[in-house]
Amino acid sequence: MARCIGILTAGGDSPGLNAAIRAIGKSALNAYNMQVIGFRDGFRGLMENRTVLLEGEILSGILTLGGTILGTSRDKPHKMPVGSRVQNMTEVMLDNYHRHNLEALICIGGGGTQKNAHRLVQAGMHIMTLPKTIDNDVAMTDITFGFDTALSIATDAIDRLHSTAHSHHRIIVVEIMGHNTGWLGLGAGMASGADVILIPEIPYDIKQVADAIRRRRHRGKNFSIVAVSEGALSIESARKLAALRKKKQAGGDSKQQRKTTAALEVFKTQQNNNTLHLTRQLEALTGLESRLTILGHLQRGGTPTAADRILATRLGSACAAAIEEQHYGCMVAVKGETTELVPLEKVVGKRKVVPLDHPWIRAALETGTCLGNHVY
Ligand code: F6P
Repeated sequence: MARCIGILTAGGDSPGLNAAIRAIGKSALNAYNMQVIGFRDGFRGLMENRTVLLEGEILSGILTLGGTILGTSRDKPHKMPVGSRVQNMTEVMLDNYHRHNLEALICIGGGGTQKNAHRLVQAGMHIMTLPKTIDNDVAMTDITFGFDTALSIATDAIDRLHSTAHSHHRIIVVEIMGHNTGWLGLGAGMASGADVILIPEIPYDIKQVADAIRRRRHRGKNFSIVAVSEGALSIESARKLAALRKKKQAGGDSKQQRKTTAALEVFKTQQNNNTLHLTRQLEALTGLESRLTILGHLQRGGTPTAADRILATRLGSACAAAIEEQHYGCMVAVKGETTELVPLEKVVGKRKVVPLDHPWIRAALETGTCLGNHVY
């Protein structure tokens, strides 16, 4: 019987996913004589046993394609909406895994997917993972694929906003994805020469931001670009969030817990409008007309950069080689010019944030960028 491995892509899509699928498929078929099947729409496809045989033509011509030919979803094995109920469907997934006699299943995704993949390891499956996300926040890997493409899309967008901000003497606040980390915001802000960059790792003081813009104005610069990560928080909001999290951790009776959960939900909803609120605050504080641009899902769409294609190809082929050597339960991580296998228990439950002593932060400050607060 032919040896068989499976692939699924889960979480938000990311440029380079098809390059990774292609690399795993071609390496497995050409170098190791394995059959490869894909499960559609992430963990849901594994649960519903919706598969596609990945061979020949299907793997051809997809290197440059954005999105994922397998489809994706944010469904979790242990909390899967089925009909009107949310259920733990891990056992059904295990049955399907055995039905295909899989030697291993490769789950490609970000931090959430690493966690879900680890749950499948605990259920007894041979799992390998690859780190992908435009947020670049997966622990224990130098970089994730998708990040470089999103970085160049966001940078290009801010470059374009510069000329219109300049012509109209406006502040343009530009919201950049990244979930709760600032890699994408900081990177795109630096690459495009944003005047202010606000990231979740450095809660901002609105007065310091307005002062920086006013100082530019005194130097004759009547416009400013403010690059803001979607997860950026003001000092006040950061304090409020920390207090709510502390309360949640402390537990209490069920009524208190419900209250804290509801307060966290309200906080999240308010935070969704944070960049709009920030734009209005800056207009009021500086007297400069201000506009908000939310880059949104544009940052995840379209063809991957050359760097992401190469990275996804390296990771995919290293993954097939690791399975051939019967390594399981690991993420194929990037370590400089090489790849290394990191046990999933070392990856899950962690998030790679921007360290405050990171060279990007130092360089941004030294070149006169306002980061919204004192860093050193
Ligand atoms: O994790 C990738 C990401 O694009 C984040 O930057 C963003 O917060 C989130 O996904 C958006 O998720 P969705 O596509 O479900 O709206």
